[in-house]
Parts: sequence; C-alpha cells; structure tokens
Amino acid sequence: MQLLNLTPLDTLIDPHDPALTSTASTSRFATAKRTHLGGELRSSHVGAKVRLGGWVHRTRNLGGIVFLDLRDRAGLLQVSFDPKWTATDVTERAGRLGLETVVMIEGDVAARPTEMRNAEMETGDIEVRARDFQIVGPAETPAIPVARGKGEKLPAEELRLKHRDLDLRRPELQKNLILRHKLQQTTRRFLDDRGYLEIETPILSKPAPSGARDYVVPSRLHPGEFYALPQSPQVYKQLLMISGYDRYCQIARCFRDEDLRADRQPEFTQIDIEASFVGPEDIFSLTEGLLAALWKDAGHSIPPTFERLRYADVMERFGIDRPDTRYALELFDASDAFRGSEFGVTKSVLATGGRVRGLKVPGGTGLSRKQLDEIEGIARSAGAGGLMRLKRGSAGLEGPAAKFLSESGVQRLGVGEGELCLLVAGPEQVTNPALDRVRQDVAKRLALVPENKRSFLWVTDFPLFSREADGTLSSVHHPFTSPHPDDLELLDSQPEKVRALAYDVVLNGLELGGGSIRINDPSLQRRVLSLLGVGAEDAQMRFGFLLNALSAGAPPHGGIAFGFDRLAMVLAGASSLRDVIAFPKTTAARALFEDAPSAVPPEDLRELHLQNMTS
Ligand code: AMO
Repeated sequence: MQLLNLTPLDTLIDPHDPALTSTASTSRFATAKRTHLGGELRSSHVGAKVRLGGWVHRTRNLGGIVFLDLRDRAGLLQVSFDPKWTATDVTERAGRLGLETVVMIEGDVAARPTEMRNAEMETGDIEVRARDFQIVGPAETPAIPVARGKGEKLPAEELRLKHRDLDLRRPELQKNLILRHKLQQTTRRFLDDRGYLEIETPILSKPAPSGARDYVVPSRLHPGEFYALPQSPQVYKQLLMISGYDRYCQIARCFRDEDLRADRQPEFTQIDIEASFVGPEDIFSLTEGLLAALWKDAGHSIPPTFERLRYADVMERFGIDRPDTRYALELFDASDAFRGSEFGVTKSVLATGGRVRGLKVPGGTGLSRKQLDEIEGIARSAGAGGLMRLKRGSAGLEGPAAKFLSESGVQRLGVGEGELCLLVAGPEQVTNPALDRVRQDVAKRLALVPENKRSFLWVTDFPLFSREADGTLSSVHHPFTSPHPDDLELLDSQPEKVRALAYDVVLNGLELGGGSIRINDPSLQRRVLSLLGVGAEDAQMRFGFLLNALSAGAPPHGGIAFGFDRLAMVLAGASSLRDVIAFPKTTAARALFEDAPSAVPPEDLRELHLQNMTS
C-alpha cells in the first residue's frame, strides 16, 4: 500500500537540484520535501536517488561504518553511512546522532548483499546509502525509549500514557491507528454504498433521564442549567427516521461516566446505524456484511451469517448473555440429583426455589487442590456461597457432597471417568455469574480456548425489563426498545416475561454491538415509560420531544451500534482499547499526558455560575 500520495510528478525533486546531487557535507537541503517514505522503499526502488525524512530509531557504529534505522509512518529502513559513499565527517556526525532526532537524508537505494538481508524488516532487502543528512528536529534524550530490543518489555503503561507523544511513535501503535483509519473508511464506504447517510448529531445535548452516567457541561448563558455529552446518539437517530431520512449512520463519539474496565473508555466511538421500514433480519444481514468487510481489511474471512441464540438459552447454557462459544463446557442443572437429599446446602436452596447448577469438566480431575481452591475463590468472589467438587474415584463418586446423594442421585448426576463436576447452589442471580466466571477460568487453566477461532453470535429475545432490588423495573437495553409483539399482553401482568425485539452481537465473549427495533407508537412508548416508573407529566417533560415526534407520523424503525474501539482492538490483536485509541484515558478516567481532568480557576467557575468546590 502506498501510504503517501507521493508521485514523481509532484514531489520528485528536480534531478538538477544541487541539494540532491551535492555530496558536500555542509550543504543545507533546499527543501523539506521528501521523495518517498523510507518504510515504503523496496527492491523495485534500487538505483533511485531519494530524499527521506524521519526519526532516528537506532544507530550502530561498526568500525567506521554507521548503520542508522530511520523510522517513518511506513516503517523502518536501514541507512548506511560508509566512507565508500559518504564523506568521512558526515559519517562521523551520523554516528553521534541522538535517538529520536528528526533527520533528512539524501542517498541512493541499493540492494543489500545477500548475507546482510533482514527477512524481519519489510525493507530488509535494501538499504539507502547516505550521501548527506541534515538534522531538522533535534531531540533531547527521550523520556521513554521508542525502539525495543527483541523480548525487551515495554515501559510501564502509566509512563507510556504520560509520554503519549513518544509512545505513539511505536511502530505497533502506528500500525493499530492506521488499521483503525482503514476500518473507518471501509465502514463509510460500505454504508454509503447501501444508501446510508452520514449525519452528525449534537455533542452538547440534553441530560439523560437517569443521568448518573452523564458528563455534564455548565451553560454560561443559562445560569444553573447544563448540557450533557451524549451517551449515544440514540434519540437523534430515531428523530432522523421520523423525519424521513430513512437510512442513517455515524461514526459517533459517545461519553459515559461509568466504572472503567479494559473494554470500556469514558469517551468511545460507535458505528451507529438506524434504518426505517426494517425488521431484525435486515439489521442482521446488513451488519454481518459490514463485519465481513471489516474483517477482510484485517486479512480474515468470517462466516457469512452468525449463529443465533436466545437470551434465555444462553443464560441457561453459559450463565452470561455474552458467552464465549469457542469452547463447549456448558452448564447443566443438577437439581434433580439433589432433590430429597438431606445435604443442608442444597436442601435449603431447593426449598426456596433455587437450583443446583454446574459444569462437568473433562480432564478436570487433574486440577490440584490448590487450583481448585483458587477456582472456588473465584466462585465466591462472584457471590457463590461455595463450590462443590465431585469426581469419580475407585470407590465411586468422591467429594464432600457425595455421601448425601442417593444411588439414583449419583446416576442422575452422571459424572464420567476423568470428569470433574463443579456445582453451585442458589438462585439464578448467584449461580449464573459464579458459574460463568468458573467456566471461563477453568477453560483458561485447561487450555480449552482455541485462540485462533472466531465465534460470532447473535443473542436475541432479551427481556425488555429487569427487576431491580428495590422492586422497580429498568430497561435491559433502553426505554425505546420495542416489546416483542407476541408478548404485549404480558406487559401489565408479567412485565419481566416480556421479550424485547433487541439483539446483541458477541464475539468470543466480547459484546461488539447491540440494537433493537424501536417503539414507533407513542401510546405504547408512554405505557413502557410508565412501567419504568416515569409518570405521564414526567414523560412529557423528559421525553416530550420524542413523544411529540412519534405522534407526528413515525415509520417502523430500528438499528444497532457497534463499539468501534472494540472492533479495532480485536482486529489489531490488541488486548486493551488504549492500544487502538490515540489519546485514551486510564481506568481512573484520567488523560495523563495532558493531566485532565484538572482544576478551573475560580473566576472561570464564577463565569459559569458554579461554586469553587475546593475553596
Ligand atoms: P450500547 O449501550 O449497547 O447501545 O452500546 C453499543 C456498543 O458500544 C460499545 N460500548 C463501549 N465501548 C467502549 N467503552 C464503553 N464505555 C462502551 N459502552 C458501550 C459496546 C456496545 O455493544 N444506542 C444503543 C444502540 C442501539 O440501540 O442502536 C447503544 O448505545 O460494544
């Protein structure tokens, strides 16, 4: 790929340019223009006279010959300074160049002698024989090294985030950000080809109804009033559908003040999509196509359609709504084996409507007691009271719970040779998270996760509501999600049983995106809001603009949003979102390089009608 659009016509310097042809070490280069990116040069350029610009990545001084690795956006290139083709004082100065100095170099592209070729460098078959160079950006000793030897560890991440300008020079990060750019262009092209209009929506928006996760911005002109940064363009994209734009997309920045993890950032980017007169199938096939195009950018092909599993089934089989389905190890219900048993733990759980669930781990009998204690610790930290262990020994079923099982109970449990059975008793809110964590941990310990496999999955038929500890209902996705038409009659009587026309796409246990068909009937929207505890007056105050718009002629519509940073992270093979975002925040939501957030002078706060919290 040609990275810079440098064509001989507009950038090749005049061959009569004295600066190019001069070998005088003192000559100042006549222009800051380059003929090529060094990292792009290949054998086909042998014989070319070039002028390059870049950073001194590393230098080696071998008995009067200086080898310099020049780095630019396209990669690394070896430049050699040798008395055979370079003036002695130029070679001597090159040998003294500090790392990360920016230089311009003039020279000739030459093939490397066979024994000097380096298969690990993309430019490894050639080198540039320098005739002259000039320092154009002197550098102080870098605070953190950019070049790394083989097997050398990266500096601590905090240090790298503080000196992000240097960290961003690392070829790995440059590669990631170039891939991210390509993915954005592919997304735009793909959606444009299918009639999607890219429309920008506001960044200064209305605080959300349950705005605990809003970043708020004080209004100078309206004392005591605030804007909020959007958590997503959800309402805007619905308004655009109601206004007849039919197909919308945006690579949209979203802001959420939530507890951060490796796969979350306080500001992140979504590929946001909405369409009118569609059903879930249309969104599935559109986005399967988009993901295939993005994976193709990274050099992979993926299945044309993804497996679909219903929420209720994934929770039963895996204990989580975004399961890693690269490996089996599914949960099973062992309640029947314990029914009638006098075992205290299971007896009380079964009597109160709970269940005994668990995993049968093939080859799990090889796990040591210490390992099993660690796994139990994981189950406990996820809320389980304990983790029962059972295995088949020479004398039958072994494990503290075994003696409480009847013959038929043992048979029902059906633990096979070499299998380890791990069980948790409790209500689903306990068994699901605990067994999900145990499942993931055991799979890692026993190396059951095929690293190169990609298991895409649609999870469908989510519940519309979840019941909070205080008895109130909250939306599983968001309040604009359409209930499943077959479940409408359950809305008032059994709201928790109502399914939503909502779907998530999951890859190897990571939620890549989610969406739904929306409510386009204002009276149904009001009913759902009222079930969520938003009274009529309140609804009009908080969502009046959407409710009014829905009453003004709203087509059926729906869409999806993908976490773009997550997609880029997976496709770059990175383990953190921070490796695919140019200027990320830490897990404490700080930007270390610019030291944000930071205090604002009291006079500025007064102007914004805010009190100085620190005074
Ligand atoms: P949702 O809240 O599920 O849906 O977000 C969609 C996708 O965005 C990504 N994501 C994040 N990525 C990085 N950091 C975060 N803090 C973060 N939070 C979410 C996830 C997620 O799947 N408006 C709806 C979409 C719709 O219904 O069309 C929405 O925002 O990959």
